[in-house]
Amino acid sequence: MKIGIHDLEVATSHYVLDLDTLAEHQGIDPNKYRLGLGQDAFSMPAPDEDIVTMAAEAAQKLLARHDVGQVRQVLFATESSVDQSKAAGVYLHELLGLPANVRSIELKQACYSGTAALQMAVNAVARNPEEQILVITSDVARYALDTGGEPTQGAGAVAMLISADPHLVEIEPGSGFHTSDVNDFWRPNDSTTPFVDGQLSLDAYLNATTSAWDDLAARRALHLEDIDKFLHHQPFTKMARKQLVALGEHTGTQLSEDLIEESMSYNRALGNTYTASLYFALTAQLHSNDQLAGKRLGFFSYGSGAVAEFFTGVVQEHYRDHIYPDHVAQQLQDRVALSYDEYRGLHQAYAATSQTFSTQPTTNAPFRLSGVTEHQRRYEAQ
Ligand code: CAA
Repeated sequence: MKIGIHDLEVATSHYVLDLDTLAEHQGIDPNKYRLGLGQDAFSMPAPDEDIVTMAAEAAQKLLARHDVGQVRQVLFATESSVDQSKAAGVYLHELLGLPANVRSIELKQACYSGTAALQMAVNAVARNPEEQILVITSDVARYALDTGGEPTQGAGAVAMLISADPHLVEIEPGSGFHTSDVNDFWRPNDSTTPFVDGQLSLDAYLNATTSAWDDLAARRALHLEDIDKFLHHQPFTKMARKQLVALGEHTGTQLSEDLIEESMSYNRALGNTYTASLYFALTAQLHSNDQLAGKRLGFFSYGSGAVAEFFTGVVQEHYRDHIYPDHVAQQLQDRVALSYDEYRGLHQAYAATSQTFSTQPTTNAPFRLSGVTEHQRRYEAQ
């Protein structure tokens, strides 16, 4: 029985900052961001947006095409959680009208946990093939102002439906793993922005993903030639290029950038979306190539701290009949450009999840965060 990604949808936030604007005010060459990091812009949430509103928007579009009665679990993966106890997916039950007899949990391991959610869902469907699982990856990457991480911010969500006989990608059994205790990027419970050791994070990423490849290659007797396209967690798209070079050097193979080129278009425009980044890479890959049927995709998932997984999937025969590139184009095009001062003001006004506040409607997105009262987050459909 084939099990995998049956369908997916995405959402991003209301605002966007062009990185030329940031470079200009920092007095640096814009090519540092465009070429050096491989990024053009990043999405930024309005005060009434967060991981829940983006996830609900993506999931609503996705579920409109399916029988919600078959969904048995919501697995919500995020780095930028809004509560230490309550799973973000529980809010979706009310917003999307999900049945009460659906299980909801949240998963955490920096940018990696979306992959853990996906694999948990595949395993659950293997036991109960008639069930479907909603996997959510949703994050707001928010670094402190005037730090090295600032140009690598971003926001976005990918909602995926995992089922038997999937329309898009069969996830193949067998993964390579790597875990090592490294302080490259972390966020204490009371901090709204992460701490990061930039150079260490690059080294940890390359070490972990190469090690995960080695693990899988040994376990499944897999060779680089068995992979038709590679997809990466893309904190900035240049990172995928760096990984490809490192993997080539590690294996003594010359790897063409054609293996990754098509996977980077959405992340260039969105910035880092943490758990969702790998799945935006998948979305971009599926949308930009109509010759993928039967091709094997290799997925490099990385979460600082650090955990990595390498796994593979096979694109299904009629995948082109089940993709919606115009939806992504619309999301990107609808974003409202921020001036530098507006961006700084929005960043500084960000409310910690323990604060009481109310918001004005900013967007025409289907869901909004109306504020926090009595320490409870209030969401509404609009
Ligand atoms: N024209 C073209 N390229 C230029 C340039 C110019 N004018 N000026 C600089 N560059 C190039 C540099 O040569 C460099 O390229 P290489 O790495 O290929 O040599 C690139 O631009 C970046 O320059 P710096 O290394 O000087 O950049 P920086 O010190 O300002 O920081 C960073 C870069 C470490 C990625 C920083 O943005 C950061 O800390 N980001 C957050 C952490 C992160 O994203 N880490 C990634 C791995 S961890 C992970 O993946 C998990 C996660 O999501 C956080």
